[in-house]
Amino acid sequence: MDNIFIEGQNPLSGSVKISGAKNAVLPIMTAALMAEGKSVITRVPNLRDTRTMIRLMEIVGATCTFEDDKLIIDGSTVNNPEAPYDLVKTMRASFYVLGPLLARFGMVKVSLPGGCAWGPRPVDFHLKGLEKLGAKITLESGYILAEADRLKGTELSFEFPSVGATGNIAMAAATADGTTVIDNAACEPEIVQLCEYLNLMGASIHGIGTPKLIIDGVDKLHSANIEVIPDRIEAGTFLTAGALLGEITLEDVNPKHLDTVLLKLKEAGCGITTTKSSITISPADSIQAVDMTTAVYPGFPTDLQAQWVALMTLANGSSVITDTVYHDRFSHVPELNRFGANIKLENNTAFVRGIDELIGAPVMSTDIRASASLIVAGLAAKGQTVVSRVYHIDRGYEKIEEKFRSLGANIWRKNPVT
Ligand code: EPU
Repeated sequence: MDNIFIEGQNPLSGSVKISGAKNAVLPIMTAALMAEGKSVITRVPNLRDTRTMIRLMEIVGATCTFEDDKLIIDGSTVNNPEAPYDLVKTMRASFYVLGPLLARFGMVKVSLPGGCAWGPRPVDFHLKGLEKLGAKITLESGYILAEADRLKGTELSFEFPSVGATGNIAMAAATADGTTVIDNAACEPEIVQLCEYLNLMGASIHGIGTPKLIIDGVDKLHSANIEVIPDRIEAGTFLTAGALLGEITLEDVNPKHLDTVLLKLKEAGCGITTTKSSITISPADSIQAVDMTTAVYPGFPTDLQAQWVALMTLANGSSVITDTVYHDRFSHVPELNRFGANIKLENNTAFVRGIDELIGAPVMSTDIRASASLIVAGLAAKGQTVVSRVYHIDRGYEKIEEKFRSLGANIWRKNPVT
């Protein structure tokens, strides 16, 4: 297993290209299963999660080729609507095959995802939504079995605008008989792009990007091509590092997707300039403490909460950071405290008292975004940091150490000495 080593406090400068968004490409890949023929998806990040999803595509029978950042999925050969436990347990996003395969085959068997590093993460909204569309859902030996001759349009309202449930139900409803209205739908850019992709495939979805999606069912979808949107979470991670370590420019990014994050960075004292597809951040002389509460889009993303906590450990003053999307997503807190940070946790709120300097330490990744926060802290800390279990970071960040090295960081990867 690899470790990432960081010799901290090297200033950052220059520019870095942001990859395609993990959380956009994963559901787009499963949507491609709904059609016969070849779909070409470009700007696909080469991540552990995209490779896991390709394995799942192949298990269900799709033919995939992945070269550079171009992924071709041929849905003509799909014949096995089943997502096995071994894959689903490593990546919850595998659950995105539920809606598409049910819609195409009238049945699907998907392992029930377990808990994850930060809590239970239920899938009840997905299942209730499919039931409303007329599916019969049963649980068999840890697998969800969903069956329906043809799904029927319906009206439903999510208790919470779940990203995954909105995606799954939108895909399932795309070829249902009649119109489906989803109230309290997720508005995240990744869901917007999924709906746009479904429309390119022949679906008829209206209200995209609003909390009310109206989906007029069509008989059939066809294959379609798309370029994946920039990864706003990768971008936000680089911004928190830039805020601490030097002026950097992110290229091939969509600043609009990061409005709330950019506002918070300005509040913290950073200079921000944007063009249509780039963001330049210059650090504050002294980072100001800024409270932050995560929220669904366009609020501050939960996927940048850990990185914001890392930034605030070096702020001038105290800040209060609350995660309203996931209440247990704080496994980075004890690890950040190993750098000497002063963070106290109460329920879903971190109280961070800024200090002058972090000191490098051996720390352990626990999930994708927690790992990213440890890398940001390690880059800013004095001395050496060793981040173990970096497979978590490889799930969601493409060539992270190469990208940071190109900006001047002293960061490298090697196997642990045993
Ligand atoms: N929820 C339920 N029941 C459900 C579904 C969700 O109670 O059936 C709750 C969750 O427990 C959570 C909230 O609703 O409290 C939001 O969960 P959501 O369904 O929106 O999350 P998700 O679809 O499972 C995606 C991203 C996550 C990101 C969240 C929130 C993908 C593949 N994953 O997860 O990304 O944190 O939305 O924005 O898109 C990551 O990339 O590191 C990551 C975890």
